[in-house]
Amino acid sequence: MGSFMRASLLEMKGITKTFPGVKALSDVSFRVEVGEIHCLVGENGAGKSTLMKVLSGVYPHGSYSGEILSDGKAQTFRHISDSEKAGIAIIHQELALVPEMTVYENILLGHEIRKGLRVDWNETIRQAAGVLKKVRLGVNPATKVKELGVGQQQLVEIAKALSRDVKLLILDEPTAALNEDDCDNLLDLMDDLRREGVTCVLISHKLKEVIRIADKVTVLRDGRTVCTLDAHQGEVSESSLIKHMVGREIDDIYPKRSHERSEEVVLEVFDWGARKHGSDRAVLKDINFHLKKGEIIGFAGLMGSGRTELARSLFGTRQAL
Ligand SMILES: Nc1ncnc2c1ncn2[C@@H]1O[C@H](COP(=O)(O)OP(=O)(O)OP(=O)(O)O)[C@@H](O)[C@H]1O
Ligand SMILES: [Mg+2]
Repeated sequence: MGSFMRASLLEMKGITKTFPGVKALSDVSFRVEVGEIHCLVGENGAGKSTLMKVLSGVYPHGSYSGEILSDGKAQTFRHISDSEKAGIAIIHQELALVPEMTVYENILLGHEIRKGLRVDWNETIRQAAGVLKKVRLGVNPATKVKELGVGQQQLVEIAKALSRDVKLLILDEPTAALNEDDCDNLLDLMDDLRREGVTCVLISHKLKEVIRIADKVTVLRDGRTVCTLDAHQGEVSESSLIKHMVGREIDDIYPKRSHERSEEVVLEVFDWGARKHGSDRAVLKDINFHLKKGEIIGFAGLMGSGRTELARSLFGTRQAL
């Protein structure tokens, strides 16, 4: 996997993008090589989604300054369909499927296979089934999308992209809403796609998955490129990512408080209990804690463990015993 052998698939140079009152991107550079999974990380508002929207023509050429080269050619996408034609597929933070339509209709929407003037549904379904197999989604293509879970819908979006001969697949926070199994499944799929030569840009806040999957990581901060790290050179770790994302050493992410802690107890609760209103059933028993001046106390517990009852019985309307 020597990165020195790889050709550049995409280069964005000196990209600056301004919204009224906000400079979202300032002179950003971003280079992606063929066949790699390149993660894009940064704190909220760093400019990750904006950079990918510039790339995919959501923000048309002319609305930003700087240069986009793909396959060595200067690109001036004016619409998302222009970048699609160049083999770039973007899956946005917000999914964009039509819930009332079936899986295969969604996959081939706008790209139906025609026989003369009519849509060739047999061929359309056959091809949809093929890409569904590729993303390992075992559902009937005639299922309506609204009946699928978020993880499955994500896979339909990817299948849709793959049905179009994609060279560069961009996933903007695909795992944010997924449970652990669906996340794992998606990362496995990305591994498979990498093996098949699909180049991928992944935006994620989940550093563990970035560390697991990335060949390269580019860090953005306040609309600027901070650096590009190479996982195969051992440059990608949780602490290096955090350091570059926040711009400080990891030790001062939680800066030491300067004020002295007070020993003055402002609230002491001693053997507190409460019964359900109008019944003998105890909802709280033997509660003890104290709170010193300037402290914040957190109550943790499962649903029904009595946290709300405690707050209500101490400070609220429910009658305390
Ligand atoms: N359409 C818009 N109009 C005005 N400001 C915008 C617009 N889109 C983004 N911004 C601003 O540009 C900056 C970069 O936003 P962007 O959405 O690219 O960040 P991000 O890195 O994707 O953040 P997140 O991790 O929260 O998704 C932010 O300050 C944001 O408020
Ligand atoms: Mg974003």
